[in-house]
Amino acid sequence: MIVLGIETSCDETGVALYNTRPWEDGKPAFEGILGQGLHSQIAMHRDYGGVVPELASRDHIRRVLPLLGQSLDQSGLKLSDIDAVAFTQGPGLAGALLVGSAFAKSLAQGLNLPSMGVHHLEGHLLSPLLGQTVPQFPFIALLVSGGHTQLMKVSGIGQYELLGETLDDAAGEAFDKTAKLLGLDYPGGAAISKLAEQGRLGMLDLPKPMLHSGDLDFSFSGLKTAVLNQTKKFAKQNIADVNIVAQFHADLARSFVGAIVAVLVSKSEKALKQTGCKHLVLAGGVGANVQLRTALNDKAKKNHFEVHYPPLELCTDNGMMIAFAGALRLLSEGHGATKSGAFNVKPRWHLETNNLK
Ligand code: KG4
Ligand code: ZN
Repeated sequence: MIVLGIETSCDETGVALYNTRPWEDGKPAFEGILGQGLHSQIAMHRDYGGVVPELASRDHIRRVLPLLGQSLDQSGLKLSDIDAVAFTQGPGLAGALLVGSAFAKSLAQGLNLPSMGVHHLEGHLLSPLLGQTVPQFPFIALLVSGGHTQLMKVSGIGQYELLGETLDDAAGEAFDKTAKLLGLDYPGGAAISKLAEQGRLGMLDLPKPMLHSGDLDFSFSGLKTAVLNQTKKFAKQNIADVNIVAQFHADLARSFVGAIVAVLVSKSEKALKQTGCKHLVLAGGVGANVQLRTALNDKAKKNHFEVHYPPLELCTDNGMMIAFAGALRLLSEGHGATKSGAFNVKPRWHLETNNLK
């Protein structure tokens, strides 16, 4: 079965084709990836310091058809080879979701194919199944993106239980806002991570919010405020030496990354302990973070659990994770794919409400 995936929930247009046929022993296979096209709008939004929803929608319209052509060319397939269409139905920006959903539904109708709406986070949390080591169910997923920070228990395809989530900013949002305070371009996650490598450990004290809260929830807005207060304190010293300023920024980046990583790692371990799970999956854009990966690998070795990652190129938003999640659902009972042309988008959508019965 060849599934076309369409992702347009935020600022990446992703189109991909996934083939379930190479699965021989019942396990998903990386070889199923046939072709994909991805366009990031980051450069377009950078001048505004964040995503401008109307610009995002318009750009998805421009990009989606050429990206489909690119995916087909890459895979050597024709439209008539496609068996089903999966598209991101939510959560995300309403206008952006409408573009992908309308495109997917129209195409499916034109080709007389079944189509299905996929939850964006399901795409993220199943993408580690395409990684080098495949996690076994049940596993814990730490989902850390620009819009979400959640710990989920995944008992199977379509079997998700929310264990904890952020009460305010998402981890990626905290990275992006802190990057802005340090004068780095949007989105600043990767740039802060790089800057932190030049920083010195323990030079600046930042809080590790909710580290000892006893539950599995997170809060990152206070950390961002603490970074702001440190920058204000430093500015008062009127230091003009560019090297000293650069070192201060690097030290602050290091403390910030250290604080956020400490909280994410500690709560992930707590979730593993609480549920008795032995496998942890890291998903979402912040999952590309080197310091977080290193810290999780160290803990996994010490405390005897396994940690799994999606292939690096599938960490941030892409069409492949949607094609793949769609394919996994289509192989499950009660998946809900339909030939109906009717659709709605779900800008706010809890993953658990989309569980398979
Ligand atoms: O999953 P994603 O592509 O989009 C959403 O669904 O939000 O995640 C984007 C987020 C951004 O906040 C970005 O700054 C962050 O992921 N990010 C990183 C890194 N690469 C991307 N954060 C920390 N370290 C990175 N290396
Ligand atoms: Zn995402």
